[in-house]
Amino acid sequence: MKNIVVLISGNGSNLQAMIDACAQERINGTLRAVFSNKAEAYGLERAREAGIAARALSAGNFDSREAFDLQLMQEIDAYAPDVVVLAGYMRILSPAFVANYRGRLLNIHPSLLPKYPGLHTHRQALANGDREHGTSVHFVTEELDGGPVILQAKIPVFEGDNEEDIAARVQHQEHAIYPLVVGWFLEGRLTMKEGRAWLDGQLLPAQGYAADE
Ligand code: GRF
Repeated sequence: MKNIVVLISGNGSNLQAMIDACAQERINGTLRAVFSNKAEAYGLERAREAGIAARALSAGNFDSREAFDLQLMQEIDAYAPDVVVLAGYMRILSPAFVANYRGRLLNIHPSLLPKYPGLHTHRQALANGDREHGTSVHFVTEELDGGPVILQAKIPVFEGDNEEDIAARVQHQEHAIYPLVVGWFLEGRLTMKEGRAWLDGQLLPAQGYAADE
């Protein structure tokens, strides 16, 4: 069985989607451990309830980002992960961390990348009057929210929507597409080569599978 490690900072609804997908064998893998940089993250509760090792590391106990990440890497590597899944992990990764998991490190970002890397994506979509918004699953590289996109899901933005409305619509899609991508990866169908994402040996377009542009 393939090993999955998930990193979170908060609610962990995407983690829950992974837990459910593993239980229903939509993902052929075992969730070995969940790490958080926030002790109060509700996702840690979700993990414990599902019988998964759950651990918080506090950045305040480390002298540098590098020292924190080194400790985190050692603890993650004890689980021999085939894939490391960032699911709402709100901390910048050191280059050494990214290099250590290159090609097996996935993230979900709530925008149609390359649009709106960074924070407050829903707010920006609203402020710009976008009629369409969404979420992207991508491989992680050194560039923040800049690695090759694997799969996106689009949602409509309606007149009168607020940030919460959009966030809920986006998350609904995230819970469907993220487990799907993790499943593909663990089946060996998905790889990162030459800085691009490949599915079943086919180079994926810049906006991921089935992008219509
Ligand atoms: C998700 O919307 C994801 O796109 C972003 O952070 C949010 C995490 O939500 N990276 P949750 O903790 O999985 O509920």
